[in-house]
Amino acid sequence: MDTASVNGSVNTEEGAQPLPEGRLLVLGGGYTGQRFGRTLAGRGLAVTLTRRETSPGNGDDQGGERWVRFDPAAGVVPPAEVLAGTTHVLVTIPPDGSGADPVLTHLAGLLKTLPLTWVGYLSTTGVYGDRGGGWVDEATPEAPGLERSRARLACEMAWRRQDLPLQVFRLPAIYGPDRTPFRDLRQGTARLIHKPGQVFCRIHVDDIVGALLHCIGLPPQRRPPTLILADEAPSPSSETLGYAAHLLGCKLPEVQSWGAIETAMSLMARSFWSENRRVSSLLLREGLGYRLRFPTYREGYKDCLGLG
Ligand SMILES: NC(=O)c1ccc[n+]([C@@H]2O[C@H](COP(=O)([O-])OP(=O)(O)OC[C@H]3O[C@@H](n4cnc5c(N)ncnc54)[C@H](OP(=O)(O)O)[C@@H]3O)[C@@H](O)[C@H]2O)c1
Repeated sequence: MDTASVNGSVNTEEGAQPLPEGRLLVLGGGYTGQRFGRTLAGRGLAVTLTRRETSPGNGDDQGGERWVRFDPAAGVVPPAEVLAGTTHVLVTIPPDGSGADPVLTHLAGLLKTLPLTWVGYLSTTGVYGDRGGGWVDEATPEAPGLERSRARLACEMAWRRQDLPLQVFRLPAIYGPDRTPFRDLRQGTARLIHKPGQVFCRIHVDDIVGALLHCIGLPPQRRPPTLILADEAPSPSSETLGYAAHLLGCKLPEVQSWGAIETAMSLMARSFWSENRRVSSLLLREGLGYRLRFPTYREGYKDCLGLG
């Protein structure tokens, strides 16, 4: 187990900014949503989070958090009175199986009645498609190559049509406590795969939290409508796995060439390895002045092991 917990509080420099006034609604209290909600609840903001099934803690509200069910497939939608007074919304819910946005399908009308000052929508850098390892930034035209990325771009566009104070955040792979290669390495199930020239980009969950807070703290006219959140070190997965093994002091598995194993990989794994791009977070770091807490996976992995 990683030593830090997803349920722990985060302590970012950005976290020292004054908290927004109002009430936060997190639509999708999963890995990132819960981390964000708990951070703000821990600092005294009233926070409501949704999940499809029963809430953590057997349905009991915890601290400043209130959990409600939002399970569109089961016809369960939060009642209007629970969302009354919401000023900030974070949406982490991805497109559904048909490619539609469950929040817009079921809650768009209700959201428009709320006194919203900020809506953050978490999207993916998959909307840029395969770039042969080249760099992309916010000015790069989208060119989604995968069906799920085309659905995501369509959902982004649907959100932009809503006339809400929206910011779209495009994310590469999210890692952090309990989302690292350490468990696979310890259990001997990690795979060391080499594909020439292939890199992956990533962002630590606490830098997502920090960057969102940083944006909320900016004057509305300084908040970019689209912002990439990523660290500074696109890297091959063999490099990140090698560093994780080094930190654990354990042996790396035998290297496997992508060409030799590709046909035996799952469709999902093949889709991830079919695209290669470097995503730039210069606008976040230099344009908006956000200082990454984990500029590379090295600081992030050490922190996850309590070695920071
Ligand atoms: N994970 C990554 O590496 C990565 C990379 C790029 C972009 N993203 C995107 O970033 C966002 C946050 O990622 P994450 O890893 O924090 O997500 P996560 O842990 O999977 O949490 C997603 C949340 O959305 C809820 N949800 C999913 N489908 C839903 C539906 N049809 N109706 C209602 N609620 C639904 C889930 O509910 P339950 O709690 O009930 O399951 C969960 O609370 C997601 O949109 C994800 O696609 C993720």
